[in-house]
Amino acid sequence: MSTPIPKAELHVHIEGTLEPELAFALADRNGVRLDYASVDELRAAYSFTDLQSFLDLYYALMAVLRTERDFTDLAEAYLARAAAQGVRHAEIFFDPQAHAVRGVGMDTVVRGLSAALDAAEERHGVSTRLIMCFLRDRPAEEALATLEEARPYLGGAVSGVGLDSAEMGHPPEKFREVFARAREAGLHLVAHAGEEGPPAYVWQALDVLGVQRVDHGVRCLEDEALVERLRRERTPLTVCPFSNVRLRVVDRLEDHPLPRMLQAGLVVTVNSDDPAYFGGYAEDNMRGLRTALGLSDADVRTLARNSVTASFIDAERRTALL
Ligand code: ADE
Ligand code: ZN
Repeated sequence: MSTPIPKAELHVHIEGTLEPELAFALADRNGVRLDYASVDELRAAYSFTDLQSFLDLYYALMAVLRTERDFTDLAEAYLARAAAQGVRHAEIFFDPQAHAVRGVGMDTVVRGLSAALDAAEERHGVSTRLIMCFLRDRPAEEALATLEEARPYLGGAVSGVGLDSAEMGHPPEKFREVFARAREAGLHLVAHAGEEGPPAYVWQALDVLGVQRVDHGVRCLEDEALVERLRRERTPLTVCPFSNVRLRVVDRLEDHPLPRMLQAGLVVTVNSDDPAYFGGYAEDNMRGLRTALGLSDADVRTLARNSVTASFIDAERRTALL
């Protein structure tokens, strides 16, 4: 690979970085039986019709993640790959409720991930932040309880909260209270919106939850007033091109709306979402776009610069990366 452009990654689910090889290694280590005979058979199952069909496999494979060491190994593998792809700062999502339902608690997950993240700047030259996501297809009360469980880590290991999982039928409004509490705790706020869901969900993420960034947000283009609002307020959108193709949000990379989003003056960034499942990491997405959409060098530099300005890193590190 020629030298990748230095950038930040702002939308990656650590559980979505679980490569089939590591899934089998962890399954062996933990005595977990997988429904697939081999790495190739598992990879062949990575064919999705929509977000839900992906989520079904994504949650099922988490069965192999059991101990602190598993989470450390998962994050370490991602950070090494990200560094090789030019990522200098990563804001990493995790889904504690998906682990709690399997009897794996908050401490195991946060301590395990932190062991890798805390060493990442020295080991890989990658600064990091951890963002805890609530699963929007589970009850709002559970999200509140999850925030309370994470209380010892808030503002320390955990810098922000987000909202993910099945979008349709689960509007941001459902999580008004937990986001208000997270804001009181001084956390950064983001939410997935406008991936499969309508522009109304993006409005709610902004107006009801008060998010600082919108994850995906590609469907904003269906609403001119929304585009104008996002442009005027310079609200960053963490767009995930390979994900959008694999989850059939767009038909082909060649049809991706990212150039229209840039043209509309939106603060767009390029991210990998669940790279183990969607065919590539941050630089792979950037290169895919360049080839499929003919992005110019200037466009690529804008996207990389946006990723740093849209991040939650401190001023000194930001200056170093710009
Ligand atoms: N969880 C992991 N990846 C996701 C995505 N693309 N959308 C919603 N929830 C997710
Ligand atoms: Zn996502």
